[in-house]
Amino acid sequence: MSTKVTIMDVKKAKEEGRKLVMCTAYDYPFGLLADEAGVDIVLVGDSLGMVVMGLDGTVEVTMEHMIHHIKAVMRGCKGPLVVGDMPFMSYNTSIRDAIINAGRLLKEGGCDAVKLEGGVDFASTIEAIIKAGIPVQGHIGLTPQTASALGGFKMQGRDAQAAKRIFDDARALEEAGVFSIILEAVPAPLGELLSESVGVPVIGIGAGPHVDGQVLVTHDMIGLFDKFVPKFVKQYAKIRETILEAMNGYKNDVLEGAFPGPEHSFKMPEKALEELKKLIKG
Ligand code: KIV
Repeated sequence: MSTKVTIMDVKKAKEEGRKLVMCTAYDYPFGLLADEAGVDIVLVGDSLGMVVMGLDGTVEVTMEHMIHHIKAVMRGCKGPLVVGDMPFMSYNTSIRDAIINAGRLLKEGGCDAVKLEGGVDFASTIEAIIKAGIPVQGHIGLTPQTASALGGFKMQGRDAQAAKRIFDDARALEEAGVFSIILEAVPAPLGELLSESVGVPVIGIGAGPHVDGQVLVTHDMIGLFDKFVPKFVKQYAKIRETILEAMNGYKNDVLEGAFPGPEHSFKMPEKALEELKKLIKG
């Protein structure tokens, strides 16, 4: 049995110069696989709205969706630290709502920590959740829940002023007490400068190689889709082709009568079969 990754282990990784490996999972089989692969952190991301539910974005994802998927992941994922994503409007309405909903992800879902999107504007909310005893991971740069206000799913921090605002966000999150920060879709030099400037691990997704760790949406990384592949995704497999090949093989076998064969069929004792035939005839 694998040992459980703790918040302290995540913080220590930065001090020790060890890169953190994080990926998403949304169900039991992928929880098991991430566990077996030995990643440090598993995120049950609200990206499930897009890669599991087929929505255009993450805005429609609810607390009920998140709790349902976190519970499934937790059944398979025993070693990695599991972070549950706070869906849109579960923390934006008031600090009280934010604490109650963060608590629900831990109490009902069973995850170890929560993540929420936002910097300076959400520092006091994050501080309050942490004071309530719930570890929080920040998420700045491109924040998918508010992507339309940022001009779409685009790189952030292009000019000095915009990059400085992302710095201010990171510092506000560190001060609020987050145990790590997700930094999404920013120029690589900004990722490097930012991870040098804060004491907590900066985990990049499209933030270049010089941050303290990397996170990818697993369904992107294994090549489950062939349509929209973001620039920052490396596909380590073409699992879509493998699955299609299996499904087509199955379909053809059924149509041609090649499946099921004798090895996939249950036998009946000869005597019982004879008796049954007599019974049917009457
Ligand atoms: O929801 C998610 O999967 C995320 C990652 C993109 C970091 O927030």
